[in-house]
Amino acid sequence: MSKHGRTDMEGQGSLPRHVAIIMDGNGRWAKARGLPRYAGHRKGAEAVKPIVRLAADIGVEHLTFFAFSAENWSRPEAEVDELMRLLRLYLRSEIAELHKNGVRVSIIGDRSRLDPDIVAMIEHGETLTSGNSRIHVSIALNYGGRQDIVQAARTLAGYVAAGEMNLSAISEQSLSGALYTAGTPDPDLVIRSSGEKRISNFLLWQSAYTEMVFVDTLWPDFSEVDFRTAIGEFQRRDRRYGASASGR
Ligand code: IPE
Ligand code: IPE
Ligand code: MG
Repeated sequence: MSKHGRTDMEGQGSLPRHVAIIMDGNGRWAKARGLPRYAGHRKGAEAVKPIVRLAADIGVEHLTFFAFSAENWSRPEAEVDELMRLLRLYLRSEIAELHKNGVRVSIIGDRSRLDPDIVAMIEHGETLTSGNSRIHVSIALNYGGRQDIVQAARTLAGYVAAGEMNLSAISEQSLSGALYTAGTPDPDLVIRSSGEKRISNFLLWQSAYTEMVFVDTLWPDFSEVDFRTAIGEFQRRDRRYGASASGR
């Protein structure tokens, strides 16, 4: 570990500070085995823990998981119920463990549609782990990128309407600060599993200059090797932010 607490993987390129993951492919994983979709979700939930551990070990500061989108409510009720059941199980069994390992946990997304017992567990987890600093793990639940921008716009408009903020103070910075991700740097890297090459309403505002890595592995099979490979690919990219290519 360097003095910044980071291991330089392969000694090349800088490590992403914030990695966000679209965990996709649970249904196809199950289907390929002749199993019901929920079996894929169960296996997918198990794939999360080793990635958190590895990310913390190599020095990633923020890790965000897309667990349930605002659009996923459109799935059959039985599947949504199973996902919520798994979420309860995960929160109940993992919060103490995450806390023990120095993980700070946050949930991003609209909580108003989540069951009150889930909201209570989330609030407990966030409060319990708020002082931890080994790694920050965010879980996106009932999250939509457009919905996030709308709620941020509404928050700022409310300040302006109440005379607490000048119209001219609406800026990229103040809008960022009103998003669910306030205080977390924009993701440097988004990884999507399962071969789909789209963002599916994930961190839209926040991913303006994010590097995207799409891997074919279905989420339940996603391993530490896949994570390291994605980081390696990120480290070979040339991030330009609109400037000219380096060395030209
Ligand atoms: C991701 O796997 C989990 C959620 C979206 C909740 P899917 O359930 O989308 O799996 P596929 O895409 O149908 O294979
Ligand atoms: C994105 O996956 C949402 C999550 C992984 C939670 P989806 O499976 O819902 O995305 P689409 O429908 O294929 O775009
Ligand atoms: Mg999917």
